[in-house]
Amino acid sequence: MKLLVCGGAGFIGSNFVRQRVTEHGDAVTVLDKLTYAGREENLAELRDAPGFAFVRAGIEDPEAVADAIEGVDAVVNFAAETHVDRSIAEPDAFIRTAALGTFVLLEAARARGIRYVQVSTDEVYGSIEDGSFTEESPLLPSSPYSASKAGADLLVASYHHTYGLEALVCRGSNNYGPYQYPEKLIPLMVLNALHGDRLPVYGDGQQVRNWIFVEDFARGVGHVLAHGAPGETYNVGGPDEAVNLEVVRRIIALCGASEDLIEYVTDRAGHDRRYSLRSEKARALGWEAQVRFDEGLERTVAWYRDNRDWWEPIRSGDYRAYYERQYGRALGR
Ligand SMILES: NC(=O)c1ccc[n+]([C@@H]2O[C@H](COP(=O)([O-])OP(=O)(O)OC[C@H]3O[C@@H](n4cnc5c(N)ncnc54)[C@H](O)[C@@H]3O)[C@@H](O)[C@H]2O)c1
Repeated sequence: MKLLVCGGAGFIGSNFVRQRVTEHGDAVTVLDKLTYAGREENLAELRDAPGFAFVRAGIEDPEAVADAIEGVDAVVNFAAETHVDRSIAEPDAFIRTAALGTFVLLEAARARGIRYVQVSTDEVYGSIEDGSFTEESPLLPSSPYSASKAGADLLVASYHHTYGLEALVCRGSNNYGPYQYPEKLIPLMVLNALHGDRLPVYGDGQQVRNWIFVEDFARGVGHVLAHGAPGETYNVGGPDEAVNLEVVRRIIALCGASEDLIEYVTDRAGHDRRYSLRSEKARALGWEAQVRFDEGLERTVAWYRDNRDWWEPIRSGDYRAYYERQYGRALGR
């Protein structure tokens, strides 16, 4: 299969591309703008794989998309601005990429009659106190990030309804694992714990997330791509839920750090309390999450411990200024 994978140099996209190239033998073109979150290093070992190509461009660039999409069988779109905190501080790029970028991709797929998978998030449903969201639940996003994702999902659905495009949406729960940029909870806490830096916990730390190991989610996206029905949405959630503070404590234990590093900081504005997904529809396609949270977290901590070369340039670059703005204190060395 020949795929165009947008946002394939980011965390989940690069894990997906690795699976497609090494396990399925797909020819993959990655189109990625390489924002602060995208890194060509994430795809380093695939550079010489047959049929692999990398294009640096934004999905909102119609010419670049038209060139990259030539001859492909399907488009999978991971490209997005993805950090809720940044969407609160500077929402512009979130809206541009999700709205204009998704539109450009959909138009290109429509012009060629190509299957299209939009990668989305459980955050579009908003927060849920009890029970779990199904694909029929209403969309009630709370942040500019989740609202931008919900808008893109609706645009994708309209292209199926109006033009008959083979378009599908795949909504994941909170991903964690190798190659995740250390602004997100788990890698942030792992790297800070390994360095003996403070561990900033929002509010009371009692927010609940439904965790999925990135390789399980990437496989879920592959199942939706191969077996999903056009026009349908599929939730792909993890096997375990965990309270944020408990996640931080487990990371502290795995890193051999001290709980004294925990520092409660002002809660994120509009912070959702709990996310939870039901994924029966994806299971009916033959997908099942394989990695329980305990095992996945251990593997993730081990990966960060063993891959200093990957995170050292991030932790010594612009990230330091972002961190200081966000948490009001400098990172240690
Ligand atoms: N991380 C999660 O927990 C999670 C959960 C569910 C769904 N998702 C969704 O999965 C997708 C990937 O998330 P991630 O965590 O890998 O994010 P990420 O921030 O690690 O990667 C995003 C990638 O998109 C690229 N990108 C950003 N804007 C672009 C543009 N305009 N044109 C082309 N490329 C652009 C970036 O350079 C980067 O490589 C996103 O759509 C996100 O909403 C993420």
